[in-house]
Amino acid sequence: MEKKRIPLVAGNWKMYKTIAEAKQLAAELVHGLEKFTQVEVAICPPFTSLLPVKTLLEETSIRLGAQNMHWENAGAYTGEVSPLMVAELCSYVILGHSERRAYFGETDETVNKKVLAAYAVGLIPILCVGETLQENEAGKTGEVVERQVKLALQGVSLSMSQETGVPLVIAYEPVWAIGTGRAASGSGANTVVTQYIRSTLADLFVSEIAQSVRVLYGGSVKAGNAKEFFTQPEIDGALVGGASLKADEYIGIVQAAASSK
Ligand code: 13P
Repeated sequence: MEKKRIPLVAGNWKMYKTIAEAKQLAAELVHGLEKFTQVEVAICPPFTSLLPVKTLLEETSIRLGAQNMHWENAGAYTGEVSPLMVAELCSYVILGHSERRAYFGETDETVNKKVLAAYAVGLIPILCVGETLQENEAGKTGEVVERQVKLALQGVSLSMSQETGVPLVIAYEPVWAIGTGRAASGSGANTVVTQYIRSTLADLFVSEIAQSVRVLYGGSVKAGNAKEFFTQPEIDGALVGGASLKADEYIGIVQAAASSK
């Protein structure tokens, strides 16, 4: 029996917030999100704020994620943070974000290494996929998204637990919608999720798994447009950038998820 997918709203804080600012925002979220028990909420602050924010989240159900990591558990890799280190603090790790692919040389191959490394230490990947504007205009959305999903998950075997479901989250984030104020349409994003993401998952795993993986939409999600995504049958939540940096906006998005699903 496939498991009902619990909506997930995850905030990617990117390279914003000092420790003091992060603690302030986290405290506002703890206060404002208490009542939304039917939606899972995660926040992904910068590395420097993970520990201070974790302390604030201790008595809450808000989960913590990192925005990246290396694939080796230790080594001479100046400036990097390892899966073991992330696993000490976090439940989730965002992998393959388009900003990392575009500015830091991440490839499908390194994303795959990181996904495998995440599983080895018990972290749940939030795997980001999505086409650029150029790829979109060239009609290559399906090809790109399918390739990214397939290559990121090479060598991964997934099983389902009754309590936690499938330990994988995919975020469909069209690059042209990130930080532009120009979100995809709900139905357009739902079509990509159905035709290219869940169908690829069904090719790679059994269909019960493909139907149980949570797939989020990301790209200019705000309190004002969130409902359009959360009411789509195949979209299970959002990965939020800019709007996750303001408590009111983020709480508004969680509220939209709670009332839509
Ligand atoms: P925005 O919500 O700022 O468009 O960013 C989306 C994103 O990149 C989340 O990972």
